[in-house]
Amino acid sequence: MFGDHEHAAPPAWTEIRARSTALGFDMPSEANTGALLRLLAASKPGGRMLELGTGTGLATAWLMDGLDASASLVSVDVDPAVQDVARGHLKDSRLRFVLADGLDYVREQAPESFDLIFADAWPGKYEGLDETLELLKRGGLYVIDDMLPQPNWPEGHQARVDDLAARLESRPDLIVTRLAWASGLIVGAKA
Ligand SMILES: C[S@@+](CC[C@H](N)C(=O)[O-])C[C@H]1O[C@@H](n2cnc3c(N)ncnc32)[C@H](O)[C@@H]1O
Repeated sequence: MFGDHEHAAPPAWTEIRARSTALGFDMPSEANTGALLRLLAASKPGGRMLELGTGTGLATAWLMDGLDASASLVSVDVDPAVQDVARGHLKDSRLRFVLADGLDYVREQAPESFDLIFADAWPGKYEGLDETLELLKRGGLYVIDDMLPQPNWPEGHQARVDDLAARLESRPDLIVTRLAWASGLIVGAKA
């Protein structure tokens, strides 16, 4: 069915969602975001992917489902309590979890070293945007969600979102599309 991908979710996602609900984790990426991430990950055979903000691993499960045998994913979060849920459900030699501040991690990486970046934490979106985009190879994909108004947004967040979208769209090295899909996505390709 159009607009509903839960039925096509990887088994690990279903398990992690149940655990996330039990824990009261209130920042999950939507299933439709995950379905698009899986598709984009599959378009990068042998690629190196980066996720900023593991959370409990909901989006991670979808990304992993799109990886081919030679691709890999690094997923970074500062909060061990939520990342431990992901670690418990997603055991795969292609996946490495890093417990660190996302911006610190970004600053330690070589330029043009990733094929896809899903930035779902403050770092990589509202902090260190230029440094994060430096990590993308030519043709690499940058993905963010929560760009349409959300009930949990703090006061004044819309202005930050508008500024971020404008910054992305003004970059000569990025082809950007806004998608009214799930919580509102922006996908960019490095030119
Ligand atoms: C929106 S949630 C990510 C949800 C995830 N996509 C999922 O589907 O489960 C944002 C995550 O960013 C993490 N985070 C917050 N500040 C961070 C930072 N400075 N560096 C890395 N991760 C951070 C939070 O702990 C939280 O798990």
